Amino acid sequence: MPKIAFLGAGRMASAIVDGLLAKNACSPADLACLSGAGTSAQTLAARTGIRLASGLDDLLAGADVVVIAFKPQHLASADPRLAELTAGKLVLSVLAAKTLARLEKTFPRARNLVRTMPNTPSAIGAGMTGWCTLKSLSAEDRAAVLALLRAIGREVEIPETQIDALMAVSGCGPAFVFEFTAALREAGITAGLDRATAQMLAVETVLGAGRLMARTQTEPEDLRNQVTSPNGTTFAGLKRMEARDFRGLIQETVLAAKARSEELSRDS
Ligand SMILES: NC(=O)c1ccc[n+]([C@@H]2O[C@H](COP(=O)([O-])OP(=O)(O)OC[C@H]3O[C@@H](n4cnc5c(N)ncnc54)[C@H](OP(=O)(O)O)[C@@H]3O)[C@@H](O)[C@H]2O)c1
Repeated sequence: MPKIAFLGAGRMASAIVDGLLAKNACSPADLACLSGAGTSAQTLAARTGIRLASGLDDLLAGADVVVIAFKPQHLASADPRLAELTAGKLVLSVLAAKTLARLEKTFPRARNLVRTMPNTPSAIGAGMTGWCTLKSLSAEDRAAVLALLRAIGREVEIPETQIDALMAVSGCGPAFVFEFTAALREAGITAGLDRATAQMLAVETVLGAGRLMARTQTEPEDLRNQVTSPNGTTFAGLKRMEARDFRGLIQETVLAAKARSEELSRDS
């Protein structure tokens, strides 16, 4: 693996570093980090053994790949020297709503730019990341991108025109699933369960159903049909979901998230 520099050392950078080291994709000596005014880079370096850079020059001097992992709002005030210091390097951004065109303004001389959209399960290596690039990737750069993103879960390359749709499904999706889980818990309480039991049942059911989908690689409709006998209990529940247009609600939810993502990308 090439030497990788992390600019920003919070949750997302930590997830990638942890994943890379856990998979032995690289050694701590290949990685360096730098954060803002806070202590996150010190904490990450102390915890993982990666190098704590003393400044931007030190961070980027020996690096071939640069991961931009600060908050999207930090991009506007980023050090202008980044343009020169990232010249000839592969720059990978995890910044939500920052388009390749916007990234190119800050990193005009990078040899290529990768825009990624990870999600929160990345923190436990169960992420789903969509990504796109400014130019087509060399074989070596593709291998580096895949190693970085597979360190936090699964990845899919998509055209940038689909990033807002991906954001709405896999970026925001975990929150929609959390909300569904909370609704299932609340409904369980209404149905007569105590809160702790309802919480356990809801969480374990979502987890088990997710695992089953992943393990069997079966369409969710097929798995649903397998547990739905005519006029049975699941059938009675599903009929209510259909009557209240559950799919229409989810469609509205995703389209609203996509529209907001488009707005944010336009503004930034
Ligand atoms: N967490 C997720 O699940 C998730 C999912 C998808 C996308 N993302 C993207 O990941 C990025 C980082 O999110 P996060 O959750 O990791 O945030 P975070 O935990 O708050 O970390 C932000 C990091 O940025 C650093 N920072 C602040 N100003 C900086 C500057 N001027 N130069 C360099 N570093 C600076 C902070 O350093 P200090 O400690 O010094 O303040 C900290 O290390 C965001 O752009 C977000 O869109 C995150």
